[in-house]
Amino acid sequence: MPTYIVVGMQWGDEGKGKVVDYLTRKADLVVRHQGGNNAGHTVVVDGKQTILHLLPSGILHENKVCVIGNGTVIDPAVLIEELDTVEAGGAKVEGRLFISSSAHIIMPYHKLLDKGQEKFRGKNRIGTTGRGIGPAYADKADRFGIRMCDLVEPEVFKEKLADVLQYKNMMLEKLFDEKPLSYDAICEEYMAYADRLRPFAADTVAIVHEAIEANSRIVAEGAQGAMLDLDHGTYPYVTSSTTLASGACSGAGFGPGDVRGVIGIVKAYTTRVGEGPFPTELFDDAGKHLSSVGKEFGATTGRPRRCGWLDCVQLRRSVQVNGVTHIVLTKTDVLGSIGPISLCTGYDIDGKVTRDFPIRIADLEKVKPIYEQMPGWDEDLSACTSWDEFPENARNYFSHIEKVLGVPVAIISVGPGRKQTVDRVDTFA
Ligand code: GDP
Ligand code: IMO
Ligand code: MG
Repeated sequence: MPTYIVVGMQWGDEGKGKVVDYLTRKADLVVRHQGGNNAGHTVVVDGKQTILHLLPSGILHENKVCVIGNGTVIDPAVLIEELDTVEAGGAKVEGRLFISSSAHIIMPYHKLLDKGQEKFRGKNRIGTTGRGIGPAYADKADRFGIRMCDLVEPEVFKEKLADVLQYKNMMLEKLFDEKPLSYDAICEEYMAYADRLRPFAADTVAIVHEAIEANSRIVAEGAQGAMLDLDHGTYPYVTSSTTLASGACSGAGFGPGDVRGVIGIVKAYTTRVGEGPFPTELFDDAGKHLSSVGKEFGATTGRPRRCGWLDCVQLRRSVQVNGVTHIVLTKTDVLGSIGPISLCTGYDIDGKVTRDFPIRIADLEKVKPIYEQMPGWDEDLSACTSWDEFPENARNYFSHIEKVLGVPVAIISVGPGRKQTVDRVDTFA
């Protein structure tokens, strides 16, 4: 019964990996339910950093069951590299890692089409990660997808690929002026992947439901963030999956009635990678502080992340569309010594003030953020271990966020390490 969904509340990179790793100590099963290797989730244990793209962020805990759900898209080469890395680091995954047989596979043409489409869009490009995510999800919806269950059965894979590749090669040659891909080369490459991944392929819905029936605690790990959601994000500058809590239900195979809590991860300021509107983006010294002290470079592509103040108009929408029950505030340590802290609580669009997040990009681009300013602090938060140890101004900032969003701040993260985490309310209560 107790299933908790962890979601990003902004434009991704809120610290979901760190928080999922932290929560896993008190959970039995972790399921990653959407996205692919566009995600980069960082976990730091005893000073050692691991960046996960597809493996659930609970993987570094011995004996916890980890599931890659049906809602994900899997680049097998990336997953195998990740498996090799965590196994070389000493983690044992056999018998506790399960990959959904229904998950879709990222194929070489998806990556070429992703890059080709971005080139075609020119100045209107999305700034995708170039990992083939959009074309893989489009194929799923178009019913051209190849799934894990197809990959692990050589005859089925070869037959499916023969049909699809003919169509994809037509697109590559005629639309994007690319050379056609070789059927034999793809078969050879992917059959080697199949041999490595076959032991992990499973009906993960059955595994998740065994856990639910045993009253085990499940953590569902989202990728990206609410503003990158296909429906509620800043379309078209979004990713191609449902990044919201509701996506965990379809992407892992449980129902809303199985969910006990939705834990929203909020970075104490805002960042975004790629193109698209960003109302509170900063280009001044405060922005430079966030970027350099926060080490704001993408965990997947290494691109610099755009930085800005916390945006409570944006966050209020994220609370609404996710049904968030608790907030985990991350990277609070980064705000030390930045000076007075601003947080946006309203948007001025053509002289009209609103607290609702606009839908049209044209309106978002016109937003003049209305800021409330709060005194900052110079103390280093990274060694704080309880609420009482935080400087008063930090406590006031956290409490104000709670008040504006109407959701309790349950956990405060004060550094990248597993131990740099302050519990305030039991998220699993
Ligand atoms: P995710 O995609 O949401 O999992 O986040 P990323 O891993 O892409 O980016 C978050 C970055 O911030 C990583 O480098 C983390 O190690 C780091 N991080 C997480 N929480 C904290 C924190 O509280 N303080 C600091 N300074 N860094 C943090
Ligand atoms: P995590 O899980 C930040 C962004 C890309 C681009 C847009 C579409 O680490 O938070 P895509 O390749 O998905 O088609 O790109 O979405 N994006 C992310 N930004 N964190 C992520 O994941 C992201 N995954 C995709 O930069 O703007
Ligand atoms: Mg990330």
